[in-house]
Amino acid sequence: MSGIAGRGQLPASGAVLVTGASSGLGRECALELEHRGFRVLAGVRRAEDGEKLLAESLHGRLRYALVDITDDASVRASAELAEREYGGLRGLVNNAGICVPGPLECVDGDQFRRQLDVNVVGHLGVIRAHLPLLRRSRGRIVNVTSGLGKAAVPFLGAYSTAQFAKEALSDALRRELTPSGVRVSTVAPGAILTPIWNKVSEAGDRVLDGAPPAVAELYRSAFQAFMAGNAQQALASRTTPEDFARAVFRALTDARPRTRYWVGADARRMGRLARLLPDALMDRRFSAITASVGAPGPLERQPG
Ligand SMILES: NC(=O)c1ccc[n+]([C@@H]2O[C@H](COP(=O)([O-])OP(=O)(O)OC[C@H]3O[C@@H](n4cnc5c(N)ncnc54)[C@H](OP(=O)(O)O)[C@@H]3O)[C@@H](O)[C@H]2O)c1
Repeated sequence: MSGIAGRGQLPASGAVLVTGASSGLGRECALELEHRGFRVLAGVRRAEDGEKLLAESLHGRLRYALVDITDDASVRASAELAEREYGGLRGLVNNAGICVPGPLECVDGDQFRRQLDVNVVGHLGVIRAHLPLLRRSRGRIVNVTSGLGKAAVPFLGAYSTAQFAKEALSDALRRELTPSGVRVSTVAPGAILTPIWNKVSEAGDRVLDGAPPAVAELYRSAFQAFMAGNAQQALASRTTPEDFARAVFRALTDARPRTRYWVGADARRMGRLARLLPDALMDRRFSAITASVGAPGPLERQPG
């Protein structure tokens, strides 16, 4: 299946950098893009993860680079490697990400900054470093966002903030880069079962443990029920990492790439509802999540 173009598609040729390729969607995407003909530079943070990917690679077109997207030196080194090894870059898939869950009142400044640093600021750094290579090839940037980039769900406020920001960054970038021929798309998945879901659950515990106990108690039972429901949703999801990888492939090879590729019925539905429903109706849809959040007792209420 190497590099053959269908109708309305460009050939899968040249090199693509995928960040966050050690696990989940990024790993699947790196292997699938290699399978479909691209040369793949898989961004991982640990050499052992890179070696594991190499062991799974079947076509000899994958190599890895050590890239922490919040570390400028490693990002610069990846651009230098792409230039040296491939003479440029045809695509960049900004997939790396973390999720800091929790009621916003419980998310401290460091946790909030970390969320934005990885999911937004880091990606812009990667884009900046690799744009000279992408401009030369009139290449593609694919930003991985989420259904939560259009609708902010309670208890995932920090993550939604980052996803909204990444959507805005993608819109502005797409408009800025049109004259240069570099095309920008987002790929927005709904729930897909990957290791992120275990990490989210642990991160949620850390957020509540770090909050003042009286504040954490206001939210604990509602938040725990929400997290359990979320985990169930991921377990029950029919959307697969392969679906995601196919959408990324299309964003890289469609002759006329869309601005956004939804992956999964839930993500598509969320995007549609956010576009069509007034805020009051969206609030009502989410109200069950927060129904049991503790209200202040009579003595704590502020007058007026
Ligand atoms: N799975 C879903 O349901 C879902 C839904 C919507 C959107 N998404 C988005 O899809 C993307 C991939 O998620 P996933 O489900 O595949 O999660 P995952 O399995 O946890 O993978 C996340 C990847 O990001 C990497 N990463 C984290 N911080 C990094 C940093 N500072 N620099 C470089 N890499 C870093 C991780 O590397 P390490 O292994 O080194 O930590 C890992 O490779 C994320 O952007 C996520 O927001 C996922």
